[in-house]
Amino acid sequence: MTIEFQENISLKPYNSFGFDVSARYFAVLDNAGQLPAIRDFSQQNRVSVLFIGGGSNLVLTADLDQLVVVNQIQGLQMQDNPDGSVSVTAGAGEEWHPFVRWTLQQGAYGLENLSLIPGTVGAAPIQNIGAYGVEIKDRLSFLDAFDLETGESVVFTADECQFGYRDSLFKSRFPGRYLITAVTFTLSREFKPVLHYGGIDEQLRQRNIDFPEPLQLSDLISDIRNTKLPQPAQIGNAGSFFKNPVIPVDQAEKLKHEYPNLVLFADKSGYCKLAAGWLIDQQGWKGHRQGDAGVYAKQALVLVNYGAASGVDILEIAGAIQADVYQQFGVMLEIEPRCYP
Ligand code: EPU
Repeated sequence: MTIEFQENISLKPYNSFGFDVSARYFAVLDNAGQLPAIRDFSQQNRVSVLFIGGGSNLVLTADLDQLVVVNQIQGLQMQDNPDGSVSVTAGAGEEWHPFVRWTLQQGAYGLENLSLIPGTVGAAPIQNIGAYGVEIKDRLSFLDAFDLETGESVVFTADECQFGYRDSLFKSRFPGRYLITAVTFTLSREFKPVLHYGGIDEQLRQRNIDFPEPLQLSDLISDIRNTKLPQPAQIGNAGSFFKNPVIPVDQAEKLKHEYPNLVLFADKSGYCKLAAGWLIDQQGWKGHRQGDAGVYAKQALVLVNYGAASGVDILEIAGAIQADVYQQFGVMLEIEPRCYP
């Protein structure tokens, strides 16, 4: 099917913050066969391409003089492997949470802790989504992508994606070069729940559950998320706005000595991860509001748009938080979502 290119389209429905900026050119992609036409269009009109999925990890600060392409490639496939694992492939435009629920209903386990994360399957590897002790890199086998530079289809194994904490080669090394068309996961027929993350045990006790069923665990994770994170349909947001900072152990120990309640987790050897939410919370930002931009009242790591805030308003608060936390704790917070233009 041919692809339609439109002009001056508002991106308000296409980003979870609900920022009202427009795209000079706009198209909806529903199959990989349309990708060469997108490449031709961008070359002929001399504009770069911004691919978006659910738009749930984006800060748009002004109108985009680009071609914005919303990836809606659908499709689900599942195949049992001789070793007892299951290979599951999803089109990049499939919505993440319904996809996770579908895998569980089909008896393929491993993604339950990533329930209710907003966005699409194809956007998930870009920032290596993670929650409650599981990251997508732990379950991803390979992905299919289109290279805008060469016009060729390429396959990336999990290793080749160079995954890091909320990071991958698609985010840091080659932003804008590849469009992910499908993602293949290796899941398990045996349910081996990951229950060690703080808060899960307490919820299990409250519900008198010793060993959860897969869908029960997915529900429980969804409930925890709902108590801490606003639903983008109700209040615009992009999840955690900052990464949890990773700092050398000796610096963390000094801070812990000074602030005994500091929340930190051992990371890779020699480093510690600090809870950015705790640092921001200590400085009294939770619930802060400037016009329609603010800090969510139940989670200091989440910045929110109550209606008419712009990306610039949000970045202004973010800058003030970064300066404040740096002054108090000597730690620079890094912004997590991708900012455009
Ligand atoms: N905390 C506070 N005050 C706050 C927020 C948090 O003191 O306002 C403290 C809590 O006491 C808790 C600690 O900070 O002990 C960590 O908080 P939480 O478990 O809510 O997780 P987080 O570090 O804020 C991370 C991810 C989330 C993910 C959750 C659960 C990042 C940047 N964020 O948040 O991911 O859902 O853990 O695994 O790593 C996202 O990336 O968009 C996202 C939502």
